[in-house]
Amino acid sequence: MDPRDPAVPGLLRRGRIDITGRLVDASNATLFGTVGADGLEMQCVYKPVRGERPLWDFPDGTLAGREVASFLVSEAAGFHVVPPTLLRDGPFGPGMVQAWVDTDDERAFVDVRSPKNVPSGWLTVLRARGDRGKPAVLAHADTPALRRMAAFDLIVNNADRKGGHVLAGTDGNIYGVDHGLTLHVEDKLRTVLWGWVGQPLPADVVEVLEKLRVELDGGLDDVLGEHITRREVRTLSSRVDTLLAQRCFPEPSGYGPAIPWPAF
Ligand SMILES: Nc1ncnc2c1ncn2[C@@H]1O[C@H](COP(=O)(O)OP(=O)(O)O)[C@@H](O)[C@H]1O
Ligand SMILES: [Mg+2]
Repeated sequence: MDPRDPAVPGLLRRGRIDITGRLVDASNATLFGTVGADGLEMQCVYKPVRGERPLWDFPDGTLAGREVASFLVSEAAGFHVVPPTLLRDGPFGPGMVQAWVDTDDERAFVDVRSPKNVPSGWLTVLRARGDRGKPAVLAHADTPALRRMAAFDLIVNNADRKGGHVLAGTDGNIYGVDHGLTLHVEDKLRTVLWGWVGQPLPADVVEVLEKLRVELDGGLDDVLGEHITRREVRTLSSRVDTLLAQRCFPEPSGYGPAIPWPAF
């Protein structure tokens, strides 16, 4: 089912979850399954709060709420980069449930390649040496949709935008996943999408930020307050104001690593 199908949120909320597997490269208990009701069925990701691995920098048991809050910000602003995500009870207790995105693996937006094989128009983020000293670059595409994702990451303060968290949906849309490490009050932006540093925010991004500003003043703050702290909501709000005042993609803050490791 297309993640943007209008039936998706209801099915995710009310359907019966059946676990069919575990995502092996996942660091937390990230389970994969189906959610079905009334003859409809779709694939989903389910991350029970109980399966969250403790981290030094994010409070225990808060990752599922951050995933949901990130989705709510994405929708309210009009970024539409996060597949429908909600908090509910599941086979291993409360957790986040997210619509699965079928991906077109031929269509990459982020990659590590030899400098000779970087597609034309791509932006190089990092030069490094790979196996046996061969030069390698981390690069990403330059599309309006990816730029919106980069702006979304600035706003939610995403500490984990790896290449593998950027999905090319078979529906033609680009989706971001794994937003458990977001919305912290300290600057923790870690991303592979640094290609637009210093460039002005495009008009569509400014529009989305202005919409988010209005939404935050009009009740979204209370809705988010169910998933993250009041202080985190206020800090989100001030990030929106700062970005609207600066109107350009900022440089890395200099605190901590700017690129997540591994980058994929
Ligand atoms: N909603 C989704 N649709 C499709 N693939 C997904 C989805 N969520 C996660 N994945 C895939 O599963 C991998 C692991 O999930 P992720 O959310 O990153 O878990 P973890 O928090 O444990 O790192 C992702 O890198 C991505 O490839
Ligand atoms: Mg991950």
